[in-house]
Amino acid sequence: MTRVAGARVTARENENKEDYMAAIIAAVVNEKGGVGKTTSTYALGTAFARAGLRTLMVDMDPQRASLTLATGVSRGSKSVADAMQAVIEADRDAEEGDTATVVGAGIDALTPHTVAVAPNLDLIPSGKELTSAEHVLRDVPERDRILAEVLAPAADAYDIILIDCPPSLGVLVINAMGAAQTLIIPVSPEYLSAGSLEDLFDTVRRVKRRRLNPNLSIAGIILTDADLRTTHAREITQEIRAQYGADLPILGVVKHATEVNNAAQAGRSIVDYAPKHPAALAYAEIADALLHHWQRAAPTPAPTTATTEPTAAVPTATRAGASGVSHA
Ligand SMILES: Nc1ncnc2c1ncn2[C@@H]1O[C@H](COP(=O)(O)OP(=O)(O)OP(=O)(O)O)[C@@H](O)[C@H]1O
Ligand SMILES: [Mg+2]
Repeated sequence: MTRVAGARVTARENENKEDYMAAIIAAVVNEKGGVGKTTSTYALGTAFARAGLRTLMVDMDPQRASLTLATGVSRGSKSVADAMQAVIEADRDAEEGDTATVVGAGIDALTPHTVAVAPNLDLIPSGKELTSAEHVLRDVPERDRILAEVLAPAADAYDIILIDCPPSLGVLVINAMGAAQTLIIPVSPEYLSAGSLEDLFDTVRRVKRRRLNPNLSIAGIILTDADLRTTHAREITQEIRAQYGADLPILGVVKHATEVNNAAQAGRSIVDYAPKHPAALAYAEIADALLHHWQRAAPTPAPTTATTEPTAAVPTATRAGASGVSHA
């Protein structure tokens, strides 16, 4: 099995064929701001890439573009906004019977929008035009599926695709949920309260009900920036376990560490900046946990369409009266 953590990093070429997995698409979501979505995307992306997995990160945050800035990529001509626009135009032309717009076939359609940031690690940067996505997409048919269309050619070219979402549940995040097979939810236990994930779970249920992505699943949560010495953080962690049980696995805990901020300020991921640091090791263990889920779900070569269901679909509180929300 491909291992990410510690010294067990092995190149993909050395793995057994049955360990091969292609194009797992995971969206890193939480409508709350500053909970570690971007930090987690970059750290996990780096961990996967260092393990020899071809990894693509997509920056869907139009305002801060933190991931784009963190990787030192300038917000130039390449962007996910351009990639989405190209798909919209091609769809419109096809609808009108005009075949003049050719966006390329397979990975050729995506390559103009990707930037290499490290060996095995590519990025589709954010674009300022994403800020008007709500407006632009309003009249576009199938507007929630545009990102899925953008990423379709990447299925064969990458092993893992991580989408860094903005802090909202708007059209860009719905696009991410439409494109992803699974969700990774970073939460900061300091600011978590019982039921505070319910809006997110409601949105996931809506996405599944509307058949935008019936197979969308939740891989689990990452407790980020955690100070488990505080009573609240400890209590809330226990509460999550009691409330959701196995439906909402805790993939790992990344403790509060100034080194994580130092890495960000140096424009690097903690996994690359200080690979032996406990926060880097925690992210490597989380990457392993995710691979374990995905490989368990797909022991043979992974499907390249959104049919994988690595873990339970949408968590529903099991404790009486904890949620009041019914199954999707
Ligand atoms: N384990 C940690 N220890 C210390 N600081 C951390 C840790 N994890 C994240 N941070 C810091 O917390 C801040 C917010 O993190 P990040 O930008 O990843 O959150 P986000 O959810 O992407 O925010 P937004 O919703 O604004 O996009 C950053 O300054 C980051 O460096
Ligand atoms: Mg962010």
